[in-house]
Amino acid sequence: MSLAHENKTKMIKELVLKIIIFLKQNSSSLEKKKILDLITLINLDQQNTNYQKSNKPPKSESIKDALSSIHCDKLLPIKNAIALTLNQLQWNIDDGEFYRKNSNIGHNYLNGNMNTELIGPKKGFFKSKELRLGLFLLQSNIFYKDHYHASPELYLNLTNGTKWRFKGSAWRLKKAGSIVFNPPFRSHAMLVADIPFLSVWCWPHSSSGKCVLTY
Ligand SMILES: [Fe+2]
Repeated sequence: MSLAHENKTKMIKELVLKIIIFLKQNSSSLEKKKILDLITLINLDQQNTNYQKSNKPPKSESIKDALSSIHCDKLLPIKNAIALTLNQLQWNIDDGEFYRKNSNIGHNYLNGNMNTELIGPKKGFFKSKELRLGLFLLQSNIFYKDHYHASPELYLNLTNGTKWRFKGSAWRLKKAGSIVFNPPFRSHAMLVADIPFLSVWCWPHSSSGKCVLTY
């Protein structure tokens, strides 16, 4: 193992630990706690890492804007850990991979998203058979259409201004620091305003299933 990989492992492990600490302190429901328990089972040792090529975040201005909008004290450890690891991570763009072929998810989403997998079966920095934990960004003014999937899902909203709706009901503003749990197959959508949407995202199992558009 090279020294560079060793340092990278330490930094990314630190980010995952900061996420775990936040979730431990702020997850009230049983479903959120169950997902947290599964995250804490992942081996964060160097032996359990993939060699990944780091790349500059493709939406670099948006993620800088998102990070600079985070002022809430309790999110600062995660914000700082993301800022430190930003150029160490492997950033991906979902070009429709998460959706069924010809899904009509739309250019708005396809051109405006970016993610990295801190833990995951194929693209994760730390390996896991099923669990995927990562960061997910949507640029400003994007409507992420109503969709659902087989995996239960946990989101930690890191930025303000994004509205969510569930099962097509009224839009609800979710503040930075709020945690959303989506049960399997519950439809959800997001509407991003001026501040880019930056989040921590987790699919604990059934993570190879595709997302399906509700309408
Ligand atoms: Fe989802």
